[in-house]
Amino acid sequence: MAKANHPTNPDIALTEGSFYGNDPYPHYAWMRANAPVYWDEAGGVWGIASYADVKAISKDPATFSNAGGIRPNFGPLPMMIDMDDPEHWNRRKLVNRGFTPRRVREQQDKIRRVCNEIIDNVCERGACDLVTDIAAPLPMIMIGDALGVAPEDRGDLLRWSDDMVKAQSGSATEEMMATAAAAFAEYSAYASKVIADRRQHPTDDLMSVLVHAEVDGDRLDDLELVHESLLILVGGDETTRHVISEGMYQLLSHPDQKRKLIDRPELIDSAVEEMLRWVSPIKNMARTVTRDVELRGQVLEAGEKLLLLYASANRDESVFVEPERFDIERQPNEHVAFGFGTHFCLGNSLARLEIKVMVQTLLERLPDLELASDEPPAMRPANFIVGPEHLPVRFTPTKPVTT
Ligand code: HEM
Repeated sequence: MAKANHPTNPDIALTEGSFYGNDPYPHYAWMRANAPVYWDEAGGVWGIASYADVKAISKDPATFSNAGGIRPNFGPLPMMIDMDDPEHWNRRKLVNRGFTPRRVREQQDKIRRVCNEIIDNVCERGACDLVTDIAAPLPMIMIGDALGVAPEDRGDLLRWSDDMVKAQSGSATEEMMATAAAAFAEYSAYASKVIADRRQHPTDDLMSVLVHAEVDGDRLDDLELVHESLLILVGGDETTRHVISEGMYQLLSHPDQKRKLIDRPELIDSAVEEMLRWVSPIKNMARTVTRDVELRGQVLEAGEKLLLLYASANRDESVFVEPERFDIERQPNEHVAFGFGTHFCLGNSLARLEIKVMVQTLLERLPDLELASDEPPAMRPANFIVGPEHLPVRFTPTKPVTT
């Protein structure tokens, strides 16, 4: 339904992958200046472009609910991100057992070893694809191992997660929906076997922790375990990959910043935050309006959905000084790449650690790493999780370090 007194812009299409794949930043700036609460007629969804509104809405789940699902064109799935409190929090407390600070800290040595192995696979070649050879394998290996997936089955896991994400991104065809359903069935069968095994024989992996987690006498049943582990797979795989690849692209296209990080390695934590702000790989999450409500002169009606445009919020000029400048020393940097409020990313410390260790290891082992093409990398045209498909790089060949 058309909205009265509302500016429109033919370049904005919030449910189309092509919008996010083709530099949406000038359009976000237009929205923030002219229509920060933007009605997208074709997609039938509101877009929330300013930092203040993204945060305020995330803090008001009674008015802006997750129970209608986090995608604009889909209903909810039985996972915690599609629930409101207290149901959501009861689930989250259980899953959180797998993400305690101690458990994450204990992953550090493993992450470093995996990063070195990944670099060993390409370091003698002098050139590689930073997306497929470097950035993609790290979260995949970490999550695969956490969920009890055998190394030889990681390819299947990647395919299932890709097929399921594709069906939720952009205009899915019937064929894509069928492929996604088949992928879910296969994932479900695989995870059920791991769950049954961990019930009998506990290990120290994440799946085993989730199987045995108990809070106030509450536990996750098998179906809940399948869905929550799926959320972890989808939430932690492509996202982390894109921050490593597009974050490294920014670093390599700003040689002064790269030099600074090599000379002053203590800047790594603020560099990771700037990569997160800059990339914001999750482009949006949906909320459903529970009652008619007015915001910036617009009336949002009960039942309508809105999209929290994290990448726009993270370039908001009223919050970030020179937001279009990539600055590894940026302070403060209170970005919303991990969202805000009760659904704030559960995997944030693990993701931060993976990005940090990979960037450190790359700069230590391949210090003259540089872009091998003048073209900016093409982005995957998706309306949910977006990042480069390929990023050719080159460096002086060097010897492997692991045996
Ligand atoms: C750079 C990488 C990542 C980014 C940018 C990211 C971003 C996000 C965002 C924006 C949300 C929604 C927050 C909200 O609605 O307020 C979220 C939720 C979530 N993320 Fe992440 N994420 C990343 C990595 C991970 C990893 C590695 C895992 C797990 C291994 C993970 C697991 C989750 C889970 C389980 C939720 C749902 C939390 C809830 O509903 O309470 N994420 N993430």
